[in-house]
This record gives sequence, structure tokens and C-alpha cells, in this order.
Amino acid sequence: MTQLLETRRRRTFAIISHPDAGKTTLTEKLLLFGGAIQMAGSVKSRKAARHATSDWMALEKERGISVTSSVMQFPYEDRVINLLDTPGHADFSEDTYRVLTAVDSALMVIDCAKGVEERTIKLMEVCRLRDTPIITFINKLDREGRSPIELLDEVESVLGIQCAPVTWPIGMGSRLKGVYHLLTNEVHLYEPGRNFTRQDSTIFTGLDHPELRRRLGDMYDELREELELVLGASNPFDRDAYLAGKQTPVFFGSAVNNFGVQPLLDAFVENAPGPLARATTSRVISPDETKLTGFVFKIQANMDPMHRDRVAFMRICSGKFTAGMKAFHVRTRKEMKLANALTFMASDRELVETAWPGDVIGIHNHGTISIGDTFTEGENLSFTGIPNFAPELFRRARLRDPLKIKQLQKGLAQLSEEGATQFFRPLMSNDLILGAVGVLQFDVVAYRLKDEYGVDCLFETIGVVTARWVHGEDEKKLAEFREKNASFLSLDAAGELVYLAPTRVNLQLAIERAPAIRFAATREHA
Ligand code: G4P
Repeated sequence: MTQLLETRRRRTFAIISHPDAGKTTLTEKLLLFGGAIQMAGSVKSRKAARHATSDWMALEKERGISVTSSVMQFPYEDRVINLLDTPGHADFSEDTYRVLTAVDSALMVIDCAKGVEERTIKLMEVCRLRDTPIITFINKLDREGRSPIELLDEVESVLGIQCAPVTWPIGMGSRLKGVYHLLTNEVHLYEPGRNFTRQDSTIFTGLDHPELRRRLGDMYDELREELELVLGASNPFDRDAYLAGKQTPVFFGSAVNNFGVQPLLDAFVENAPGPLARATTSRVISPDETKLTGFVFKIQANMDPMHRDRVAFMRICSGKFTAGMKAFHVRTRKEMKLANALTFMASDRELVETAWPGDVIGIHNHGTISIGDTFTEGENLSFTGIPNFAPELFRRARLRDPLKIKQLQKGLAQLSEEGATQFFRPLMSNDLILGAVGVLQFDVVAYRLKDEYGVDCLFETIGVVTARWVHGEDEKKLAEFREKNASFLSLDAAGELVYLAPTRVNLQLAIERAPAIRFAATREHA
């Protein structure tokens, strides 16, 4: 019974946006409404404090990016919200993709002056793969932006999802007066420096209040006309269509002014799905099953550089987690004691006593846990759909001091466990090849190798354009393929066979010549 209630209370989501649309600011306001932080500015100062404690993060700061993603849990009304942060920089997109496999819904933030931007399109494609329900927040209404109708049209045509406006702006930029809530028939007035709670916002029910007329002035008649148009022409909010990922309810506001955030949060807790059932290699797991299951979607190193710890982030899919319990680590077929697991209360990391479906816990990891790993209470199954993408850039590591080869291998292997880069060892040479989806990752790895492992190395370009994981049902044919193509084959960090193609044409030929072999562009963690 407790499990059912606790599960229904959970809302686990991520914010997707193009950098600068206002994700950090909105996160901060959500935490503020959740009572998790007392003062605006805390998320940013937390960011700064984290930077100060970890040297390699100085690099992120220098480059103005946020590499690390974290999990924040906070209560709102009778709900428990888990907000999974996603790195904004394009070079870390794989990380973001995997975070999106661990959520039940997403919140999309769009800058009202810029509209739909490139990163938003990419992230939306990922959400599409799983029909993730999406709520849209159009931000920065206090600045001049594009017309609301034009913005909705753009979301519909570029992102291919139907929009259902739930709040509607009354003016914009210097003329911003408030928003009208189409479902509750309320007008929320915009008052800079206020709007922190419902109590300090001015809200009118209905449009007929004389005081509202006075406050809106000559915009009152304009609003009535516009609303008539909007109500006639727009799609009404349809919860089922939202849950199916076919329609996105749209809210307008200004995160930095706290404005329009509470209606967004209220609608979110009301309508966003709780923990959903999830597919595994053998069956679908319902969150209401009493045995614990979960999967690891992220590994983060050196959250505390003094302890060199690595933390594996596990999304709980069913059952109950209790501190110190033993769980079955499916990949290694070993029982593992989940001692000292962490939760991520917005205020700090705390030791967790119990956690429920939808929650994320952090498990200390000394290298045995990988991204994609499943934990159960004994059942032999693995969650599916947590991909490792084929890298698009490849470089060979060259040591300045050849005696450090052991440290280099260890460093590359451990850093690739975090999932942002992948590490390959060719069958026929002693090269160490690193694959990444963005150039910046090579700098990050070089920096961290030096800082954390004392290894000074360079990354030089090599003639590889793409990678494919190689599978074959027929052992004999696979062995034959391996022998013939040994000079193109490598092992990845998990020991899986990978074809590193020098050109697209070479890859095409290899595929044509070996019909019994399957070439996969992603490695599903099994
Ligand atoms: P991100 O995480 O999506 O990258 O965006 P972030 O929240 O850091 O916001 C990017 C910039 O947009 C910040 O300004 C932030 O203050 C501003 N911003 C966010 N919401 C609003 C809003 O509703 N209205 C207006 N006018 N601006 C908004 P910055 O100058 O880069 O940083 P800061 O100096 O303000 O901290």
C-alpha cells in the first residue's frame, strides 16, 4: 500500500532546452516553489561552489559550459519531484540522451525571442523515440519576442507536435501585464519582484472584474478579442494526447521574474505521468511490483575529489530500496550490497534510507558498475533502450612519457565508464583510441588525465570515420570475419568487438561482403 502511494506521488522529469533559454533559472524557481531552497541564486552559487571544489570543472567554467548533470529531489504539495539535470553543451549530448531514458516526462523551455533552436530539435527527436510526454514553457516574456501564435506555429511545424496553450500572455516585453489561464479562467498579473507564491501574486478569476479592467487599461479589449480568437482556433488541452506524446500543453512566463512558473508547476504535478512501466530483455516491469529493479543511466566521477569517488546513478523502476540492502548485479551475476546510497536533495547529497520507483539513488562505484547495468532482487533480466552511440570523432592517445602507459590505460578505461567518451583497443596494434561525439571531450579527457592520473598525453587524429558494433549469430562466420578484418577491429572498454571504419565506402563494402554479420550503430547495454 505504501509503495502504491509513494509511487503515485513521484514525478521524474528533465528539462530540455537550447543553451541560454533559461533552464538553470527555471530549475532554480522550481526549487524555490518546492521550498527546497530559500533564496534565488542558490543554484548558481551551488554551481560556483562545485567548481571551486573540483579542478577539472574549472575547465567547464572557462568554456562556459556545464558538463556535470545532477539529480534534485524536492517536495511540492503532496508530490515528490525528481528533476534530472541535463548538460546543455552539444558535445555532451550522449549523456543527455541517457538521462532522458531515465525520466517519465520532460519540460521544454523555449526563448520567446529565439523560438525553436537547434538543440531543442535534437532533444525533441530523442523524446520522440519513447513518446515522452512534454510540457512547453515559453520563457523571457519580459523581453520583446515573437508573437505567441507564431511561436506555437513554429513548435507545431518544426517539432511536429500539436500545441495546446494553457496560459496565454497579456502583452510582452515592456507591455507585459500578465497571463490568462485558459483552463482555470484566471488572470495572473505580472508584478516584477513578486510572484513567489500564490499569496503574493494578484490573481483575478474571470475577466469581468472592474479592477482587472483598470489594471489592464487599453489592453483589456485587445485581450478579449485575442482570447476569442485563440479559444476558437487552438486545440484544447487533451491529457491523453499529452501522455501519448502527441500534444504539448504550452505555458508562457518569465523564469527570472518567477512569473508564470507556478501555473506551470501546478499543471505539471497534476498531469505529468508518475513512474511508468518499462521494458526489459524478458518482460515489462510495472512500478507496482514489490521487488526492487533499477538501471544505471549515468556515472559521474570525482564528485568529491578528496575521495576519488565515482557515483553510479540508478533509476528505480519497481519495488522499494532500503539502505544497506543487497541487490543482484545482473551483468556480473553477483550480489552487491548497496551501502551508503545517496539521494540528491536539492540542498545537498544525503544518505538515503528508503527510495521508491521514480527516485534516483547514487551508488558508490569502484569500477564494477557500468552505464546500462540492471539491478534486481535475483531475477535475470536487463532494462533495454539505454544506448551507447557510435562516436563520430576518433583520436589516438600519444604519451609524452611512455612509462605511464599503465596509468593511461586505467585513466582512459575509467573515464570512458562515465559514458561521454569511448575507448577502443585495436586487435592488431597497441594503440589506444578514444572516440567521442564532440571535440571538446578530447580536451576534457586530456585535462583530467593530467589532473587525476598524472598522465601527460596528446590526442592525434587518425583515419577512422565511424564505428559499428559487430554481432553474428553464427560463431564460425563471426570467427572468419574477425580473422579477415582483424586490422579494422578493436575491442571496446567492455570487451565487445567493434569495426572502426577508415571511410564510409570501406564500411559499406565490409557490410556487403559479410551478410551474416550485423553492424550496429549503437551498443545497447545488455
Ligand atoms: P540555460 O541554463 O538554459 O543556459 O540558461 P540560464 O538559466 O542560465 O539563462 C540564460 C540567461 O537568460 C541568463 O542571463 C538568465 O538570467 C536569462 N534569463 C532567464 N530567464 C529569463 C527571463 O525570464 N527573462 C529574461 N529577460 N532573462 C532571463 P545571463 O545574463 O546569461 O546570466 P545572469 O548574469 O543573469 O546570471
